[in-house]
Amino acid sequence: MTGLTYRDALTEVTGPARTLLERWSEIPASEVVQHVNELRDRAYKVFPWASIGLYQFLEIDMLDFDCYPDILDSIKKGALFLDLACCFAQEVRQVVADGAPPENVYGTDLSSDLMNLGYDLFLDKDKFGVRFIQSDVLDSQSPLATEFQGRFDFIHSSNFFHAWEWGKAIEVAKCVVKLLSNKPGSMILGSQSITTWKRLWSIVSEDTGIQFDVQVTESSFRDAEAFAWPEDLEAFRMHFIIRRLS
Ligand SMILES: C[S@@+](CC[C@H](N)C(=O)[O-])C[C@H]1O[C@@H](n2cnc3c(N)ncnc32)[C@H](O)[C@@H]1O
Repeated sequence: MTGLTYRDALTEVTGPARTLLERWSEIPASEVVQHVNELRDRAYKVFPWASIGLYQFLEIDMLDFDCYPDILDSIKKGALFLDLACCFAQEVRQVVADGAPPENVYGTDLSSDLMNLGYDLFLDKDKFGVRFIQSDVLDSQSPLATEFQGRFDFIHSSNFFHAWEWGKAIEVAKCVVKLLSNKPGSMILGSQSITTWKRLWSIVSEDTGIQFDVQVTESSFRDAEAFAWPEDLEAFRMHFIIRRLS
């Protein structure tokens, strides 16, 4: 079965996620694929979301940032890193596997069940010193908001902001900013839905056997007001061309 939120079981796991599962989790190479597929299916029964059904949790996007070595260096020297809406917290594992002291690294999510599934995916409940904080990012009385205001030098968050409607997204962003250190150079970083869009078309391509060229560009709205977005904001939209190749 393949749909927008679920794809067929993987036949291979490659890239940084495989490295992490083999080296950090010490899963034998021959067992990685089965382990990942079983975990995905178990999680999807409870959380039937695209991020799980489409194996988004195998994407580690910190590595894609040119500034990652500098971020890592800062965390090693005492800066605090948070993965917000971390789900299984693959980014957290990557940062710690790359030498960041676990006491400087945090993960947070609304659901502790998801963070626990992360332990099952990475098989590291006993050896992992990272603190996970179960909190609603919008809750000003949460452990996250009350204990960590202004504490984080780096806040990573992927596939999260775009899930909210515009007004709520601004509220979320403000809550995130409250967690951010006031030191110049502190940053919020992550990735967003354009990747999801491309993935959608790669699934359509896989299913239909038709090859497409997918082009995505971001541009400003020509008339922000027409879209009921505040005039003083730089509004972006995604243009796309799906060109059939075969
Ligand atoms: C699409 S998943 C993205 C997970 C992960 N960042 C990734 O890219 O693989 C969105 C995550 O946001 C979490 N979430 C949703 N609402 C939240 C809230 N109000 N506060 C904190 N986390 C929330 C969900 O539990 C889920 O783990």
